[in-house]
Amino acid sequence: MLIAGNWKMYNGPAETAEFCLGLREQELEGVDVVVCPPFVSLAAAVQLLAGTEIAVAAQNVHWDDEGAFTGEVSAGMLRELGVYGTIVGHSERRQYFGETDETVSKRVHAALEAGLFVIACVGETEQERAAGETEAVLRRQLAVLEPDDNLVLAYEPVWAIGTGHTSTPEHAQEASAFIKSQVEAPVIYGGSVKPGNAAELLAQPDVDGALVGGASLELESFTAICRAAIRS
Ligand code: 13P
Repeated sequence: MLIAGNWKMYNGPAETAEFCLGLREQELEGVDVVVCPPFVSLAAAVQLLAGTEIAVAAQNVHWDDEGAFTGEVSAGMLRELGVYGTIVGHSERRQYFGETDETVSKRVHAALEAGLFVIACVGETEQERAAGETEAVLRRQLAVLEPDDNLVLAYEPVWAIGTGHTSTPEHAQEASAFIKSQVEAPVIYGGSVKPGNAAELLAQPDVDGALVGGASLELESFTAICRAAIRS
């Protein structure tokens, strides 16, 4: 089981330090835990979680080693900092920052090649779901990815992100199984995962963990979800 906290644009270095000091005191054996702070907070997280089993990942990565790409960060730079992995292709990047299946593919390949662990995100919008296009969308998004020991896929239906409308466990299961039929890799679920619904989502046979947004920002709710994973 993998529980990853995607902090999005929350938690600067000081808040990150405070969170990580608390996190390292927790008993979290039996679950793989990852925190994904914003770029500016990665160094603090790496430093404060050193010597623990808790991994630190970025939220995005560029495909080139270096170059004139204002605002971007390379896999080598993340590695230099001691960062373990990265999220790629989050729906917020697709929706607001022009991320496409092609750029997702380039980022994933570069990150894997540089030795980073990757959580690649896929998922349909509300409109696509209503049109019965969920599988077609997933098939298209997954067509650019290949299995890799360091690749995990996150099924994040866009309609469930930050809305409080979690996917039913049955839908999460069905979509995760479909994703595995396209790319053989572990699949974690994201979209309004909370301490109260984590256990039933994680109990699904093809759900291998969770990518948690809002509920990963508070130590108490994040560790409650980690504990649900340990029990499942
Ligand atoms: P929420 O848990 O806030 O719905 O966010 C999910 C998400 O986007 C994680 O990457």
